Amino acid sequence: MINVSVLGATGVVGQRFVQILSKHPWFKISSIFASEKRRGEKYKDTVRWILEGGIPESVAHLPLLSLERDEPEKIVFSALPSFIAFDVEERLSKNGHYVFSNASSHRYEDFVPIVVPEVNPDHLEAIKYQKRKGFIVTNPNCSTAGLVIPLKPIMDRFGIERITVLTMQALSGAGFPGVPSLSILDNIIPYIEKEEEKIKVESKKILGKFNGRFIPGSFKVHARCNRVMVRDGHMEVVFVKTEKDVSLSEFKESFVEFKGLPQKL
Ligand SMILES: NC(=O)c1ccc[n+]([C@@H]2O[C@H](COP(=O)([O-])OP(=O)(O)OC[C@H]3O[C@@H](n4cnc5c(N)ncnc54)[C@H](OP(=O)(O)O)[C@@H]3O)[C@@H](O)[C@H]2O)c1
Repeated sequence: MINVSVLGATGVVGQRFVQILSKHPWFKISSIFASEKRRGEKYKDTVRWILEGGIPESVAHLPLLSLERDEPEKIVFSALPSFIAFDVEERLSKNGHYVFSNASSHRYEDFVPIVVPEVNPDHLEAIKYQKRKGFIVTNPNCSTAGLVIPLKPIMDRFGIERITVLTMQALSGAGFPGVPSLSILDNIIPYIEKEEEKIKVESKKILGKFNGRFIPGSFKVHARCNRVMVRDGHMEVVFVKTEKDVSLSEFKESFVEFKGLPQKL
């Protein structure tokens, strides 16, 4: 097993990292990090666990460490708030750590890939160009992640001229404590700060090419984002104008036959 660290392990995304990595066949979570104030506390005694299922037994008794005083493993999964992630991830990657980040702070850099394994695993090539001893790999924001997977087979077969996406995003995406209850009860909030911009830039980067530099997809993106009163699970309505004409059966076939790299392995 390969030892890994989780940064921001007490947060909403950090808990998901803990949950998934604790069942991973290759990785073992050997250290977990949160803010300095929790240093030394056992995970199970201090985390406000909000996910389904209990706290994984292999992590429950680990003490929380702090980035000021403790050194993470070489492989680091980061769920830090973006304003903290920027400096921390820069420092760690320059010191030789392999940083896999959920934060947006490095996503738009020249040689930092935003990777969705089913869509653009080849973009990992970009890490060779990072002037760091280690590297940073990011994932997209949640609404982009769900969008680019169905777009990939469409793009490969028919080309994409334009997409229009309307999201209905769950409360989980706003973290904890998230959206004030009186703002969302009996309501839909028709705006999520910076979300529409993220969808545009990230989907074009992910569905674009890397050829010594990133060449974003040339299609147009229109996005409208809404927060809805659902606990977990985003929904998106997507209209796609393809470059080639396509019949419904060809369209369906492109989905049925699609296999990303993870499915092929
Ligand atoms: N929520 C989502 O669905 C979602 C989706 C995509 C991306 N993201 C991104 O993922 C990141 C985490 O989001 P989140 O919603 O999980 O945030 P969160 O619930 O606020 O959790 C933040 C985590 O970072 C730790 N932290 C805060 N300040 C710190 C410091 N100065 N030094 C070290 N650790 C510190 C917190 O520790 P304490 O508990 O000790 O304060 C906590 O473990 C963000 O960059 C966010 O934009 C979130």
